[in-house]
Amino acid sequence: MELLVVKNYEEMSKKAASIIASQVVIKPQSILGLATGDTPLGMYKELVEKYNRNEVDFSKVKTFNLDEYYGLEKENSQSYYYYMMNNFFKFINIDKNNVNVPKGTSDDVEEDCLSYEKKIKEAGGIDIQVLGIGVNGHIGFNEPNVNFEAQTHLVELDEKTIKSNARFFNSIDEVPKKAISMGIKTILQSKKIILLATGESKAEAIYNTLYGKISPEIPSSILQLHQDVTIILDEEAAKKLK
Ligand code: PGA
Repeated sequence: MELLVVKNYEEMSKKAASIIASQVVIKPQSILGLATGDTPLGMYKELVEKYNRNEVDFSKVKTFNLDEYYGLEKENSQSYYYYMMNNFFKFINIDKNNVNVPKGTSDDVEEDCLSYEKKIKEAGGIDIQVLGIGVNGHIGFNEPNVNFEAQTHLVELDEKTIKSNARFFNSIDEVPKKAISMGIKTILQSKKIILLATGESKAEAIYNTLYGKISPEIPSSILQLHQDVTIILDEEAAKKLK
């Protein structure tokens, strides 16, 4: 794993955005795996600025998001589809038909998960996957005691995740208890992975990702086995590494 420790959130966002932008410049029809949450917001802002300066063209890019809350329509302002549209896609020239976010509402979850996997494969696989990390070491919504073999599937959210994500909702009771998430196997099949973390609350999860025992208790620890992972941290998130 390659480790980059930068000064602050802004530097982390800039570094991540340049990695994504150069991927797209080198291969205009890149398949990007994208993440939501607070962490990548700065990266999306930087990418929009690069687009506005004509430094990058997203017209041939395809995207697959990591996860979506189960039970939320895409029009719901808490859905990850809504987040992606309003923080990134509406500001760039991506073809909206090339945008993929797991379906939060479905009559047949299993079928939808299988077809999400199939779509990724048919697109040629993910060239670069962006990951945030939960305080419990989750990646996507793959919570502790994860099954490393799982592909896109319905997951129960961990208590810590529900608490941590309550900040986006009016009350903790409104946080969905389930989500659809790419599985660890899906994530590991990406050709390249960048994991972003900022702030002291992530320091322990980052330490465990890099130096912990590879175990389903810490889902992110499996990244030690991937051949091309870059971890970009601010100094606070890197605190336990010294
Ligand atoms: P955050 O979430 O970026 O909002 O901290 C990351 C995650 O839970 O994966």
